[in-house]
Amino acid sequence: MTGAKIAPSILSADFAQLADDVERVAAEADLLHVDVMDGHFVPNLTFGPEFIKACRDASAVPYEAHLMIEEPERWIDQYVEAGCETVIVHPEASVHLHRTLQEIRRMGAKAGVALNPHTPLEAIRHVMGSIDHLLVMTVNPGFGGQAYIAEMEPKIAEARKMIDATGRDIPLEVDGGISPSTIGAAAAAGADTFVVGSALFRHPGGIAACVAECRARLLEAIEAEAGTPISAIAGGK
Ligand code: DX5
Ligand code: ZN
Repeated sequence: MTGAKIAPSILSADFAQLADDVERVAAEADLLHVDVMDGHFVPNLTFGPEFIKACRDASAVPYEAHLMIEEPERWIDQYVEAGCETVIVHPEASVHLHRTLQEIRRMGAKAGVALNPHTPLEAIRHVMGSIDHLLVMTVNPGFGGQAYIAEMEPKIAEARKMIDATGRDIPLEVDGGISPSTIGAAAAAGADTFVVGSALFRHPGGIAACVAECRARLLEAIEAEAGTPISAIAGGK
């Protein structure tokens, strides 16, 4: 697990000063995670494509739209046009998943899939060739601030094997309850991309301190995996 990425979720931002918060988290981010909810697939409502368009210029980091909406295929073009480099859909909400993934790629974006905690990896086994990004939910989608479901770690490990078997560089992202206290275990299970929401905004030291702690825990996980300090891995420099 190298090249770990932090993807702040702005779901827990202060909506009264959203532009500022987007800028603040994006400054610490490798990519920005935007949670799109429709009040049907999940019991909450959030951002439409116009919102993303309005804050897209706040940062040059790539944006990913996590579509927690029914029939996501109806909205793909609008989220890509709004500036999302990756569009992530739920197979539980898209009857013809293969077609949906093709459509995301056809629009020029990376095709992502997110799996609810109960959804088996089997749901995507036969469409791996059409997937550019895989997200394993570590909470039930709908709200920020929920507790990390550690029971997902064997699933993350299975997903890692499935990705490695493709020989392609597909990010394996975890989303929900990720904080300095859980990020190491998710990384050890095989994740390399980490959505961090409420932990960022609740950290007493602020956003930068939270990201620094997350990166320190990630480094420890990488060192533990390699069985040697990172300085040795880097040739003693
Ligand atoms: C949950 C969302 C998550 C959420 C993460 O439905 O998909 O991205 O914002 O927030 P935390 O980190 O607070 O669990
Ligand atoms: Zn999300």
